[in-house]
Amino acid sequence: MTVSRQAVHLTSHLDDTYLRQALRHDVRTGLTSTPKWLPPKWFYDAAGSDLFSRITRLPEYYPTRRELSILRRWATDIAARSGADTLVELGSGTSEKTVLLLDALAATGRLRTYTPVDVDAVTLDDAARRTSRRYPDLVVRAVCADFERHLALLPRRGRRMVAFLGGTVGNLAPSAREVFLKELRATLGPGDTFLLGADLVKDTRRLVAAYNDGAGVTAAFNRNVLHVINRELGADFEPEAFEHVALYNPRRDWIEMRLRASRPMRVWIDALGLPVSFAAGEETRTEISAKFRPEGLRRELVAAGFLPGRHYVDPTGDFLLILAHA
Ligand code: SAH
Ligand code: AVI
Repeated sequence: MTVSRQAVHLTSHLDDTYLRQALRHDVRTGLTSTPKWLPPKWFYDAAGSDLFSRITRLPEYYPTRRELSILRRWATDIAARSGADTLVELGSGTSEKTVLLLDALAATGRLRTYTPVDVDAVTLDDAARRTSRRYPDLVVRAVCADFERHLALLPRRGRRMVAFLGGTVGNLAPSAREVFLKELRATLGPGDTFLLGADLVKDTRRLVAAYNDGAGVTAAFNRNVLHVINRELGADFEPEAFEHVALYNPRRDWIEMRLRASRPMRVWIDALGLPVSFAAGEETRTEISAKFRPEGLRRELVAAGFLPGRHYVDPTGDFLLILAHA
């Protein structure tokens, strides 16, 4: 085993108290709204991150493979254009694809620091240690944070490329996406870049299949949010009594994941002192996953103050990476 010469630095802006308060706030807000909803960030405890990793290997779920194929072909070009010595990655998860970017940046001779940022502390810590073993000269400064709240607290040293891969930008609602892009832009300086991965609009059947896999892994991922609420807030959801629903909304160009109550239910959320009733067939929205058109995404980046540069589409036209300049 290679021994890392550089320590892994781990900073957390999400201590237990903060996490529980944020979860309480979101669950109270979402489950007392009509229709009910829950934000997707709460899918990702260690079990949820494992389920997402399984999703990335499913035959129906094409985005990870497509983005990988773009990175295999273009990471060297992206690294050269960015001129970066620091890679900051938002929603880094297992950092698996990131290796391609890190290899390309290392080959320029400039790479100094990698800052993975994620809400899931367990997966973040594992990925940071693994990355540090692979690149013994790299300073790995992992930050456990919410990219919707803590962008201003991320380290600002170096010439940075901020990567936001996987199409996670599509999990933000349009208004939240606008705020996020503006806030991110405000943290970047001259010479910094933003590498954004986005899933493209395509045939509805393929889109729906990607979120409705035959093995039921996405269904388990969807229900995981109920396990998280049971554990963290002392609730008594029966996750198996909720059916996984994934449908495409062609008016908004997004996939919606929902959990449908299979029968009338009354759930008690102890930490909130809140009873929540579900009618038979009632649906709670748990995620949107927006699909983009290259020109629309470029316009959003311009509106946030970025200068969109080269974009890269995989040969099947499924997925897009765009390098924008601050
Ligand atoms: N970038 C990886 C993982 C995508 S899954 C890939 O492309 O495969 C989405 C990741 O974003 C998860 O690891 C999840 O924990 C993280 N995440 C989701 N919402 C977040 C938020 N608000 N702040 C920080 N991380 C978040
Ligand atoms: C992380 N994110 C980009 C995934 C997506 O495709 O929207 C999350 C996911 N949800 C269901 N399957 C995968």
